[in-house]
Order: sequence, then C-alpha cells, then structure tokens
Amino acid sequence: MKQLWPAPERNKEPILEVLRELLEPSAEVLEIAAGSGQHAEHFARAEPGWRWRATDPDPEHLTSIAAYAEESGLDNLLAPARLDVLQRPWSVAPVDVVFCANMIHIAPWACAEALVAEAAQLLQEGGLLILYGPYRLGGAHTSESNEAFDASLKSRDPSWGVRDLETVDALAKAAGLTWVKRFPMPANNQIVTWRRTSGVEGHGPTAS
Ligand SMILES: C[S@@+](CC[C@H](N)C(=O)[O-])C[C@H]1O[C@@H](n2cnc3c(N)ncnc32)[C@H](O)[C@@H]1O
Repeated sequence: MKQLWPAPERNKEPILEVLRELLEPSAEVLEIAAGSGQHAEHFARAEPGWRWRATDPDPEHLTSIAAYAEESGLDNLLAPARLDVLQRPWSVAPVDVVFCANMIHIAPWACAEALVAEAAQLLQEGGLLILYGPYRLGGAHTSESNEAFDASLKSRDPSWGVRDLETVDALAKAAGLTWVKRFPMPANNQIVTWRRTSGVEGHGPTAS
C-alpha cells in the first residue's frame, strides 16, 4: 500500500529543482533509503529521461515504493530493490548518481561509512553522490530546531544524530570522491554533493 509522508511531500519540489541542476538528462540513478517512494515517483515523473531505481531495506517501504511505481505507469521508474547499506558489497550495476535523503542522521554512523564507500565503488567516472538532510556546518548546528532535532534523535538512539558535514566530507575524500557543492535548502536542510573523478581535488565544504 502507498504511504504518504508529510516530509517528502513538502521537500520533493525543492529537491527536484536542485537535481535538475545537477543531473544529466539521461541520468541513471540509484536511490538509497527511499522510504515511502514519494521522492522516486515525483522525480521520475518530472524527468522522463532519468532512470530511477529506489531501494530500501524495510519490507513495508518496499511495498509502498512498488505501489507508487506500479500505479504511476512510468517506464523510467523501475521496480524497487531491497538494499541495506550495511550488507556489503552491494550487488548493483554502475550508475551515474547515488541519491540518499534523510538516512545518515537516522541510522548508526556505520551506515554513512557504508553508503559513501559503496557509492564511490559503483559510481561511474564523473558520477555524483547526492545527500539531502540536516548537517552541522563548521562544528555547529545551523539552527536551534536542528539542535533540538539532534538531541531528540540521540535520545531515541545514541548512535543517531545530525552529522558534521566536514566529517562526511572526510569519508568521501577517503573513498576517492571530490567535493562539488552545497545547496542550502528549506527548513535548515542541505543538499551536499561529491563527484567521482580522477581529476584535481576540490576544496571541501565551507560553513558559509
Ligand atoms: C527518515 S526515512 C527517509 C526516507 C526518504 N529518503 C525520505 O527522505 O522521505 C529513513 C530511511 O532509511 C532507511 N534505512 C534505515 N537503515 C538503513 C540501512 N541500513 N540501509 C538502507 N536504508 C536504511 C529506512 O528504512 C527509511 O526508509
């Protein structure tokens, strides 16, 4: 059954605007931790040239994603696949883009490590890792609401929490990815991006 979550309903259009800026018209995308499937359906419908494969480990989420995919009738929205980032190595064909929204703060740090390392392995040369969610910048929260959110996450599970962008960038660099850009998003969220490239390294994220 299709699930309808308020957060992706609010943020899917602002995220789409940034994805249109970043993705090639025929991008092959692997979405990690796709949740309800609302993002996948919205993005695949908006850009028929993108080929979108959503994944998640949760059976109920996979059922919802499959329902969105089937009801949409979209050829470019593929059947979802079960993928737990911690079950490595991922058996997935190379893609142009790995997109993941709102997972790394609601999962143990090992999930961020696995996501970045495996994405770096399967991205084609020039491919992008794109993450969406809240981040601490320059060692500080970007708002009081993010600080409160961080505390509530940690009270639910001490291994969860809003991550430092610089720490995630260090992971990405260690995996051979190059910093691209940060896009400030509504509600104190960020889109942050890295590219797999053999070229010159970028400067990394800055708080400003
Ligand atoms: C807060 S939801 C975000 C869903 C969706 N991306 C969104 O922004 O609406 C977190 C998602 O992370 C997924 N998740 C949790 N642990 C995971 C893991 N080890 N590997 C992959 N996904 C995981 C959950 O099943 C859930 O769908």
